[in-house]
Amino acid sequence: MLALAATPALAKSSGTILLQERCATCHDLKGPAAVTLSALRMRKGPDLFYAGNKYRAGWLVRWLEKPTRIRPAGMFYLDHIKPGPKRDVIDTTTLTPHLALNAGDAVSAAEALMGLKANGKLLGTKPFIPGPSPMGEMTFDKFYGCTACHEIEPEFGGLSGPEVYTAGRRLTPEFMLSFIRDPQAWNPKGLMPNKHVPEANIPKLVNFLIELAKKDWK
Ligand code: HEC
Ligand code: HEC
Repeated sequence: MLALAATPALAKSSGTILLQERCATCHDLKGPAAVTLSALRMRKGPDLFYAGNKYRAGWLVRWLEKPTRIRPAGMFYLDHIKPGPKRDVIDTTTLTPHLALNAGDAVSAAEALMGLKANGKLLGTKPFIPGPSPMGEMTFDKFYGCTACHEIEPEFGGLSGPEVYTAGRRLTPEFMLSFIRDPQAWNPKGLMPNKHVPEANIPKLVNFLIELAKKDWK
């Protein structure tokens, strides 16, 4: 047994060990996603067990070295807001910065994360071919009301969902397409509603997010 455990093919990669030791307390690395609201409330960070089907690898490395806030009001909006003069505002004193990794650890953690490939069937087999997004912002904002929960530029848009002006840098187009089509297929109790966007309009939204991410944000 000892000899077996020592064979390199069976040994866990340093990235996998790092994930288990430093990330698993807050992130689910194995799945499945929470199926009750109380289980969802226990989540201290976003699920990562399908990371390899969600993120752009290069972004992961850069972000793990220099993390920035993605959800303006943290994991659970209601935990981090306080009443303001006109509307609720974020109580930033309740938000803590994400841990940062050194360059080498960021590469090995990203490598191990890219190996976590649950839910692949939801992505289909066709690669997404980006194109222009005429009326993209109008579709996002006015037709489907997505701006109610998502910032489409810093300080503009809702605060309960992740900022989306950087989504095109962080996420693969195939993931965005699939997530917009059916958010609950990825996260059954997740707080994004299924807006039943007609199939023909989903690529418009994805193209809008891809174009948006090319602007010179932070
Ligand atoms: C104390 C809890 C905690 C620990 C430990 C932690 N994270 Fe996180 N992580 C979070 C929270 C909370 C967020 C959401 C941050 C945001 O949206 O601004 C997050 C976000 C992320 C994201 C972006 C996810 C997304 O889709 O928005 C990645 C990738 C990530 N963490 C990877 C890691 C890795 C790798 C480790 C271990 C080296 C780690 N985290 C350790 C709490 C944690
Ligand atoms: C009621 C608030 C709400 C509305 C309305 C909403 N979303 Fe979301 N959205 C969320 C939340 C919360 C998440 C994070 C969900 C999760 O991880 O399960 C999310 C996640 C996303 C993601 C993945 C982002 C990431 O960083 O992981 C995309 C892309 C997205 N939404 C696009 C849209 C589009 C397009 C619309 C309109 C058709 C929309 N959203 C409407 C709340 C909302």
